[in-house]
Amino acid sequence: MEALRMLTERVSAPQLTGPGITPQEQNILLRSALRAPDHAWLRPSRYLLIEGENRRALGEIFLQATPDWQSLSAEKQQKVLNMPLRAPLLIVAVSCIQEHPKVPRDEQLLSTGAGVQNILNAAWALGLGAIWRTGDMATNPQVIEALGLAPQDVIVGFVYIGHINCTLKQPPELPLDDFVTRWKAKSS
Ligand SMILES: Cc1cc2nc3c(=O)[nH]c(=O)nc-3n(C[C@H](O)[C@H](O)[C@H](O)COP(=O)(O)O)c2cc1C
Repeated sequence: MEALRMLTERVSAPQLTGPGITPQEQNILLRSALRAPDHAWLRPSRYLLIEGENRRALGEIFLQATPDWQSLSAEKQQKVLNMPLRAPLLIVAVSCIQEHPKVPRDEQLLSTGAGVQNILNAAWALGLGAIWRTGDMATNPQVIEALGLAPQDVIVGFVYIGHINCTLKQPPELPLDDFVTRWKAKSS
């Protein structure tokens, strides 16, 4: 797909389905992520790939981490268990925050966020669908620990990737003037 059209037309795909994402496709997604800008080359971003039956294990982690989960109805419990099954591939984007005199925490988070955006764009260019989700589970310490992460690591997103299984929205073209100001110096 032509690069500029891809960048100006990408949308998220909330409903995704199989088949699975091929190793070649995964390679492109991850290499795109690693081209995110990164102040001082700290390399704070890590990506966990979760596929197949491992998604069910993640569903169990989500359920156990849900406060008071035993008191939820069977239907609500199943909904939580099914969350990771919404796509054949989940990429958990993590920022492993490091102390650095010139690179504050926010810049490291932004770098991982840029990595996620590169994944979304690469997925779109491959003809795949993707959506960036967070929710309560992203900040839940039990989830962070169960994924093998350190307490200071930040889950920047659960990126769901698969084949598009819904009608995509066609957002209206936004007027640039609502968001962009051509700043000019004050005349003295
Ligand atoms: C940091 C971040 C977290 C998000 N978390 C969620 C989420 O948990 N659930 C959700 O439905 N959408 C979430 N979104 C929004 C979707 O990823 C998506 O941007 C939105 O549905 C708009 O679609 P679009 O990308 O086609 O404009 C999140 C977006 C960002 C940037």
